[in-house]
Amino acid sequence: MSSPVELIKEKLDIATVVGSYVKLERAGGNFRAKCPFHNEKTPSFMVSPDRGSYHCFGCNKGGDIFSFVEEIEGTDFAGALRVLADRAGVVLTRENPAERNERDRMFMLLADVTLFYRKELRKNTEAIAYLRKRGLLPATIDEFQIGFAPNDWHITEAYLRSRGYTDNEMEKTGMSIRTEKGIYDRFRSRIMFPLCDSSGRVVGFTGRVFNSDDPAKYVNSPETPLYNKSKILFGLSLAKAAIRETGSVILVEGQMDLIMSHQTGTKNSVAVSGTALTIMQLEMLKRYTDKLLFSFDSDDAGLAAAKKSAIPALRMGFDVRAIELSGEKDPADLILESPEKWNEAIRQSKHIIEFFLAVLQKKSTDKRTFRLAVEKDVLPIVAAIESRIDQAHFIDVVATFLDISRDAVYEEVKKTALGDTNSPIIHEKFDAVLPLKKTPATRREAVERKIKGVILWQQHASAPLLNADEILARYKEIAGLIIDAEEAEKNALIYEAEAFYDGSLSLQKSVDDLLMSFEKEILKEKLVETMADLRKAELLHDSAKALQILNECNVISEKLNRMNTSL
Ligand code: CTP
Ligand code: MN
Repeated sequence: MSSPVELIKEKLDIATVVGSYVKLERAGGNFRAKCPFHNEKTPSFMVSPDRGSYHCFGCNKGGDIFSFVEEIEGTDFAGALRVLADRAGVVLTRENPAERNERDRMFMLLADVTLFYRKELRKNTEAIAYLRKRGLLPATIDEFQIGFAPNDWHITEAYLRSRGYTDNEMEKTGMSIRTEKGIYDRFRSRIMFPLCDSSGRVVGFTGRVFNSDDPAKYVNSPETPLYNKSKILFGLSLAKAAIRETGSVILVEGQMDLIMSHQTGTKNSVAVSGTALTIMQLEMLKRYTDKLLFSFDSDDAGLAAAKKSAIPALRMGFDVRAIELSGEKDPADLILESPEKWNEAIRQSKHIIEFFLAVLQKKSTDKRTFRLAVEKDVLPIVAAIESRIDQAHFIDVVATFLDISRDAVYEEVKKTALGDTNSPIIHEKFDAVLPLKKTPATRREAVERKIKGVILWQQHASAPLLNADEILARYKEIAGLIIDAEEAEKNALIYEAEAFYDGSLSLQKSVDDLLMSFEKEILKEKLVETMADLRKAELLHDSAKALQILNECNVISEKLNRMNTSL
């Protein structure tokens, strides 16, 4: 019987799996995409449905569906197995809960306690009434698995104990707090919002105060082995597909904003949960899209937040837009008032720089204060733009707004960038991560690489176009001996060969040409060597040897001439 891993590989097509995370374009029998594992402008990430593998020519990452999911979900093999088994509908045999490893038990505990809180919410008509008053529909409450932690110091603990979990596990998942006298429940009398990882597993909670005099509006799970707040984006697991479909992501601040946004159909939104957006969160989003829309207030606090979030995002190559919110209203309030107003605000979004220019212009009393404000707040943002072309465009826009020359703006932007060691103007930024791709030293090596690639490609193809053994034999005959490629290199060679073969000629003809140039290159190299020997013999006044070598040279060059004329 096949193992679960084999079964999953049979059932799942790599293009579908990868395609649910990144946008794939067809490239012959393969697919091409911008690599989700490093920042790049031109796609060098290849997926082969035939071989069930992927390979990136930029960062050299490659493998199968399991290593892909591990990498993209930031999980281990067991995690990837679970995600893929789920997708494939393959049932993994369950071990005894006590034997499961620690991480698994923590996930299980959190899944159990989520169900417990959901049941508790159903019993609490007041809490339900509150959520309904905030505008949430029952289906939304279910979709986001919203629950309620009762007003009790030990009820969660008692429930978890009844399910067989230890104090240690309760503490480690952040559900209980330990004192010398024992443990007590972290969340009491709170509406509970589960926080999920990108594959939708609960990793922690945020609890909103309800009917209690606790001054903290929200209490969150502490950092745990499963929950790292700088890596979680609230709602991402439910937003992934829509982000890919729409090609953009909307960032809101709070969970109510996010939930209401989803409820009105804006499903490509995620929330940062009140903290500043981190580089790790931006990197996660970059796998799905490179267009970000933030919602910002146009007051001073809003502008400060806009600047802080926009700069790292622009540096990473995101196109950043701002959705303007007016007055006291956050998206949740706005949507409750009228979903259409939220949709309209999204439609009216402006590029972050145009947003700043418009807001600052409105605020400024005269031209000079406007110019100073632009210098302070807008130029650092312009300096952060990753694409030079885009940057030049916005330098023009700023120059027009300020009514000064674009050169003057450019000089100022450069100065700003110089003061900022992270600016892309100074450092050609993340491109430093780029190519490990080796450029072949000689033409012979380049040609040889292609031949090896075609051989490997045809050996592995399910429906080969050529007889690989025959090419191998001809290759051996020309080269004398062959050096086998390393395993990791083979994958790269195959993709290169596929890319080389563009289908305009027959593959047989392309291979014949390759073998011919290969032979010529070998002969040329041999000619160079032989000529060097000839020089040596002449220097040593060994005329007999020189004559013999000269003959060899003639034979080689005649052969080369014949090959050239036979073309
Ligand atoms: N937040 C937090 N801890 C707090 C206060 C806020 O983690 N003590 C986070 C929450 O994720 C919250 C977000 O910051 O959603 C924004 O805070 P705020 O604007 O104060 O709350 P709202 O989202 O408007 O909350 P609500 O609509 O439920 O009143
Ligand atoms: Mn609110």
